[in-house]
Parts: sequence; C-alpha cells; structure tokens
Amino acid sequence: MKNSIGVFDSGLGGTSIWKEIKTLLPQESTLYLADSQNAPYGNKSKDEILKLSIKNTELLLSKQCKLIVVACNTATTNAIQYLRENYNVPFIGIEPAIKPAVLKTKTKKVGVLATKGTLSSALFHNTSKLYTEGIEIIEKEGKGLVELIEAGQVTSSKMRTLLHSYLQPMLAANIDCLVLGCTHYPYLVPLLKELLPKHINIIDSGTAVAKQTRNILKTNDLLNQETDGLVRHKFYTNGDAIILKDFLGLGQYEVSKLNF
Ligand code: SIN
Repeated sequence: MKNSIGVFDSGLGGTSIWKEIKTLLPQESTLYLADSQNAPYGNKSKDEILKLSIKNTELLLSKQCKLIVVACNTATTNAIQYLRENYNVPFIGIEPAIKPAVLKTKTKKVGVLATKGTLSSALFHNTSKLYTEGIEIIEKEGKGLVELIEAGQVTSSKMRTLLHSYLQPMLAANIDCLVLGCTHYPYLVPLLKELLPKHINIIDSGTAVAKQTRNILKTNDLLNQETDGLVRHKFYTNGDAIILKDFLGLGQYEVSKLNF
C-alpha cells in the first residue's frame, strides 16, 4: 500500500502533528497541505471552516491519499463529522488533550488555550463534559497567536505580551496543567516554559494522534510494513513557501507553492 497519508491544516501548525507521524511511521509517505492563505480558521464561521475543510480534503483525495489527518483543532471540531460521513477514507482528528490533563492534575484546575472556533464547538464541550467532573477548566482564547506564528514571530515581544495576558488568569486560578488546544501552539513551548512556573505540565495531542493514525491504518489494512526506499514527503502551501521551508527546518523536503 504505497499511497500517502494526507495531512491538512490552516497553515504551519499541523507540521507539529506531521513530525510525530513521521517519527512513529517512518515507512509511510506523507502529503501536507498548508492552507496559510486562509489562516486562521479559528475565527471563521462553521460554514466557512467546513467549506475550507472540504476543499483541502478533495485536493488530498485527488492525490490518492489513503487516510487524512485533519491536523487542526478548529477544523476537526467543526468539520470532521461531515467529512467522515461524506468521504470514503478514514479521518483522524485532533481534540484538545483534556483527558490526559484531567488524569494528571493535582490541583484539579486545568488551563485550555485554544481558538474561538474550538472553544465554542459542540465537540469540545461534549468531550470536556465527559472527562471533567470535579475539575475546573479555565479556558482562554489564544487570540492573535496563530497569526504571529504564521508570520514566524514565535518569540516576538508581541507574542510574549499576548501569552502573558492569557496565562495570567490561569495561573491565578492555580492550574497545574496547560492543554495546548491548537496544533500551532506546540511551536510556543520554549517560550511557554520560560513564562510558566516549572511545575506546570504542558500537554498537547501530537503523540496520541500519531498512535491513533498507526492504529487506524492497521485496522483498515493500510499500514506499510517496510520503507523499500520509496518514502516521500511533499508539502503544498498557498502561502509563503520560504517560511514553511526555512522557519520550520523542512529544508530537505519538497515544498511547492500551489493555489488551492
Ligand atoms: C487556526 O487556524 O485558527 C488554528 C488551527 C487550530 O485550531 O489548530
């Protein structure tokens, strides 16, 4: 089974998930779509997010992808149900890692940093309700963070100021776990470690998503057993190919600019 795993995101952030998949499944080829021109998805309407997710899915399917990872929390929460019902390949989605945080917290207070589109979605609320009895969730919209990351400003003073203001209410509430509910945010971990006290656990979904991808490939008999030297990783962006290439250290991979 030589077809690629397709991955899409509103831009660069999903590469944090792509890296985990590549590490766990070195025998698999991948095709990544960065819809940077439409980033951020987080403050768009459900309808717009659905349309963009359909466009990305159809492009990946036209390239014969065998499974699609919706590497964007906002697109997952707003579109994955529709995609699963309407397309005949397995879809893996990203949900904020509430469950592991709930198992880990000692203060019973968990912070969740995510986009407006994720925090206001039914899927997020239903998942939260399911796991959080007796736990206080302190949600904060990471307004402006995705735009700065897309512009390569991961450690800018503006980023510091924004993060500081989002983290302050969580720290005041005595959280000991911070869930990163957006696939762009793992690129902020070095700065978050600087800004947060040492005892705070920063939790994202990357490893769990890679494991789930492996399980679903296996169950559907789509998993490649060996590399046989033909593994390829291709990237398409409708934004700045140089930022995707250089900023994320993907210099050795094929990055093409494409209007989609
Ligand atoms: C966004 O495009 O607003 C962020 C993507 C995400 O929610 O992971």
